[in-house]
Amino acid sequence: MFGQVEAVGASMRVSSPKKMGLPARAFVIMLRMAPGGIQNRMWKWWYQKMAKANDDSAFRFMNYGFEDGKGPELEDVDEPNRMFIQLYSMNIRGVDIEGKQVLEVGSGRGGGASWIAKTHSPTKLIGVDFSAKAVGHCKQWYADQTNLEFIEGNAQSLPFEDETFDVVYNVESSHCYGDMSAFVSQAYRVLKPGGMFCWTDLRDSKTMDTLPSVFKSKGFEIVESADVVQEVICALDEINEAKMKAIEEQVPQSVRRSFETFAGIKGTPVYEGFVSGSMAYHRHLMRKP
Ligand SMILES: C[S@@+](CC[C@H](N)C(=O)[O-])C[C@H]1O[C@@H](n2cnc3c(N)ncnc32)[C@H](O)[C@@H]1O
Repeated sequence: MFGQVEAVGASMRVSSPKKMGLPARAFVIMLRMAPGGIQNRMWKWWYQKMAKANDDSAFRFMNYGFEDGKGPELEDVDEPNRMFIQLYSMNIRGVDIEGKQVLEVGSGRGGGASWIAKTHSPTKLIGVDFSAKAVGHCKQWYADQTNLEFIEGNAQSLPFEDETFDVVYNVESSHCYGDMSAFVSQAYRVLKPGGMFCWTDLRDSKTMDTLPSVFKSKGFEIVESADVVQEVICALDEINEAKMKAIEEQVPQSVRRSFETFAGIKGTPVYEGFVSGSMAYHRHLMRKP
């Protein structure tokens, strides 16, 4: 549907839904008000729908992207996804992946896991997502990568034994979880002692400020933290026109505004929230003692 220039994400608290069309307004208001369990079900419905509607294997990322001018060298085949790969690269910066057991929670259409498995040589990288359809696509698209596997599962009850992984990472997914605390407990549980937890995502600014205490309360040491909203805005600006064109060409007019909101197009609430500071985008690198 969006080819190689898609990015998604949504917020629980954004500034002015009044200026949006009805579907976009409903989307944002529902997200803002939904209690945990309903929020989980809404996101599952949404991502299943996205996966079902789009089996284009060129569309492998669903994040807002990151641009700080220090991105990694990429093979030609990965260049069209540079902004999205850079978000992954930033999130695992400084973490040793080679020869490790690695878990991605919320792996979506698998582009990030595939790039990390290909370029950072983990012994095994498992991507977990609660969209069975997205997991089905990944199993098919990346079948030739022997150190990569995809499993259906919920971030709040991960289907793994205690102390299985050296590294757990999570990219622009946890804003969908009804119970962030449960997810952080699970990430801690499945990590080996000394294991690293790499997290990056968006939130309304007030909620973002509360997250370090959630991470610490579950036992994590915070090794490094960064506000990366300017770099995310930079990426959104860079791919704005291409995304608008893709949405105009491929999305029916009646739901176009919802897609633009979801994709963080300039002028929509999430993008404007980033610019005004009401929305935040952070990275935390953590260690299980
Ligand atoms: C914005 S997409 C990001 C996907 C991927 N990390 C990327 O950057 O392309 C969010 C992903 O989180 C997944 N997700 C949402 N809630 C989840 C949950 N409770 N457990 C597992 N995955 C979940 C969705 O199915 C979706 O694939």
